[in-house]
Amino acid sequence: GKGAAMVTAVACRLVSQRKQIDEILASFELSEKNLIDVKNKMSEELEYGLKKETHATATVKMLPTYVCGTPDGTEKGKFLALDLGGTNFRVLLVKIRSGRRKSVRMYNKIFAIPLEIMQGTGEELFDHIVQCIADFLEYMGIKGARLPLGFTFSFPCRQASIDKGALVEWTKGFKATDCEGEDVVDMLREAIKRRNEFDLDIVAVVNDTVGTMMTCGYEDPNCEIGFIAGTGSNVCYMEEMKNIEIVEGTEGKMCINTEWGGFGDNGCIDSIRTKYDKEVDEGSLNPGKQRYEKMTSGMYLGEIVRQILIDLTKHGLLFRGRMSESLRTRGIFETKFLSHIESDRLALLQVRRILQQLGLDSTCDDSIIVKEVCGAVSKRAAQLCGAGLAAIVEKKRKNRNLEHLKITVGVDGTLYKLHPHFSGILRETVKEMAPQCDVTFMLSEDGSGKGAALITAVAKRLHNVGEN
Ligand code: GLC
Repeated sequence: GKGAAMVTAVACRLVSQRKQIDEILASFELSEKNLIDVKNKMSEELEYGLKKETHATATVKMLPTYVCGTPDGTEKGKFLALDLGGTNFRVLLVKIRSGRRKSVRMYNKIFAIPLEIMQGTGEELFDHIVQCIADFLEYMGIKGARLPLGFTFSFPCRQASIDKGALVEWTKGFKATDCEGEDVVDMLREAIKRRNEFDLDIVAVVNDTVGTMMTCGYEDPNCEIGFIAGTGSNVCYMEEMKNIEIVEGTEGKMCINTEWGGFGDNGCIDSIRTKYDKEVDEGSLNPGKQRYEKMTSGMYLGEIVRQILIDLTKHGLLFRGRMSESLRTRGIFETKFLSHIESDRLALLQVRRILQQLGLDSTCDDSIIVKEVCGAVSKRAAQLCGAGLAAIVEKKRKNRNLEHLKITVGVDGTLYKLHPHFSGILRETVKEMAPQCDVTFMLSEDGSGKGAALITAVAKRLHNVGEN
């Protein structure tokens, strides 16, 4: 009778709703063919970046770093390090001891960089940085000591030596004016001069990937790749000098900062981008840029999730079709929330509590859907990074004409460290996509700080600048 018809109608609606949700989730699935395609395209773009004729226009920038070797344990001294471009801004004092009792000791202070400074003028940004350094020196009681400084500046820089780096363009959340094209070491020196309170000896400017590789290289000489899966996504690796056409010389190796976040900016992976990826891109500070990064890094994964949830809500598939202020708020889903929501130990009730904290009133069904959405987005991110890393390790294997390559990747970043599934899926994908390579992942202990100090130490030793 009537009752049965109603039950059927409700059941039909549920089935059709589920179908709509599944379709959205399916658009984030990558087939083996998709992944092989990503790997092959990444390999091509790496080559473009290395070749003289194509370097200037390559989407994967392949920036020479003038770091030509990994540490050997003889590094020593006291160093300052700055770390700008990750989750926090930090100033560090690093003490390195060499010899049999080789050790690294670090003291650091975290400073906030307010949004209005991240997106104000370059002068304001660098004045703020120098203010933080002054606070730190005061705090440590070392204001008079003219220590050598390594500057971890985690943005694309065109380097002509280890202590020079012109910012190519801002990425992630930064947008300070009058910096692009300028030398960041000069900008820092000028800000120190403006303050006229202390002097520093800026020895090296370092990408976070390079710092991470160096830190792990200090323990494991087989580590020739550095990988960051955090706010941003990027890789560096040791490349044969003879393959780096834009740098003079053919002997030995140099570390290349790939800036792979820009992969896809020429449209080469558009076929796997969803409408949600496009929305995230269009709402970002740098539309059209860093397309791969926007599919793979902590700063954007939560935004992709948010776009999907908005769409589901609009279609009445979630939150009883009610759009909330929170859902309209950019940046509410930080990496730590995604990591939390996807944790296997978490009961659905706890997922609901997290959503509640974010101002999202959910039913039990809602929380299941939200968890599935998060899973689909982070799984795709890990697979994409895995396919990209496969291209890198395969390149290194072919460089050395090996049947089999054993290599270590130094890793850092909140996404890799905090997320419950990211690292596992990443490793699995690399294994599938590069079966002739045996890749070990090594977590870096504070790569940005320690690495900058190690590079500074190596640079000091090589350039034979006085010992402290
Ligand atoms: C962005 C930056 C890059 C950095 C990465 C990780 O991709 O452009 O330089 O290494 O984020 O922090």
